[in-house]
Amino acid sequence: MRAWYARGMPPIEAQIAALLSPLTTLRHEIHRHPELGFEEHETQRRVMEYLRDLGFDPKPCATTGVIADLNPGRSGRSLALRADMDCLPMQEDTDLPYRSIHDGRAHKCGHDGHTVSLLGAASILAGMRERVDGNVRLIFQPAEEGVNGGGARVMVEEAALEGVDEIYAFHNWPGFPHGSARVCAGPVMASVHDLVIELRGVGGHASQPQVTRDPVVAGAALVTALQSVVSRNISATDAAVLSVCTFHAGEANNVIPARARLTGTLRTFDTSVAANVVDRIRAVCSGIAESYGVEILPEIQALYPVLVNHADCAEAVRQAAEAILGPTAVSPAGLPLAAAEDFGRFTERVPGAYFFLGAGENSDTPGCHHPDFDFDDRLIPTAIRLFVRLVEDRVGLRP
Ligand code: NI
Repeated sequence: MRAWYARGMPPIEAQIAALLSPLTTLRHEIHRHPELGFEEHETQRRVMEYLRDLGFDPKPCATTGVIADLNPGRSGRSLALRADMDCLPMQEDTDLPYRSIHDGRAHKCGHDGHTVSLLGAASILAGMRERVDGNVRLIFQPAEEGVNGGGARVMVEEAALEGVDEIYAFHNWPGFPHGSARVCAGPVMASVHDLVIELRGVGGHASQPQVTRDPVVAGAALVTALQSVVSRNISATDAAVLSVCTFHAGEANNVIPARARLTGTLRTFDTSVAANVVDRIRAVCSGIAESYGVEILPEIQALYPVLVNHADCAEAVRQAAEAILGPTAVSPAGLPLAAAEDFGRFTERVPGAYFFLGAGENSDTPGCHHPDFDFDDRLIPTAIRLFVRLVEDRVGLRP
């Protein structure tokens, strides 16, 4: 007989079933009051209140984030589980009874669902606190969507991973079938570099280009030259996307401007590929500057690193997911995704794995960031069960 029967606790499935109604209500409340990155004050308050009621001692982290330990100071392994909490700066146009009450803010990535799933896991883990043979750190992260470089970086700086051996998180994904889990070892989501390139020349009368240094012509040459960076420097087996997305210069049709400004983005799945592309961008900028007699100042900011799953941790997720969803429901199909996630800031520091729970009914199911998207509440029990299973498997239970 399992220990929870012996101790008078109902089976875990029954405990989760009892949590579903209050967790769904809470998810809808968070959905109704979405908050942008580093502004998640109300969400933080709700999370801390929920955790305090369970006997945790939650602490703020990264301004509007929360961390809480199940067994602070206990010897043994320490596993972190992470959920993101922020919304997107977009309008909610749905007829949902719990639609956003804030203009220009909406939970269109399902972080409301991630947050309550981790709270549900916290609730189950609190009931088995004495038996967990180590610590579990719950990490509720602000600003996953990229405000000020993202919340994960700040949480790492504020020592959120101190003493942590492994970390796990999931994202709901309507692109994968409902009832499936997707996980792989190695790169699972792309790195992102933001590009801002300032061109400084000498402006003047459009009729006298010989006395100017034209940043528009130099910028046009630069955009064209950048197209060859990936195609001529990156191997056919590697991947990178470099896109120049804005080009601003000048105001009048008879004035050669003194300045131009380009912006764009670089995505890769390999840190060395990204470093190579960044080096080539800088080299192309100085070559064009030299040729056209202008100054070119590239600012290339590494926004998010490649999200790399550690092999052991990905395998742990695969086994746990197979035990819960069945062997045919778990695969690496469709990975890596070219979207980005700052969970890679955590897996740069400690081993970990990021996985996806499919939320797709059919090809019409609105995807993350779509105006009609809503988190699928049926994922809550699966996510809780998976989180708890990872604790059982990777931290262990006392007899
Ligand atoms: Ni998201």
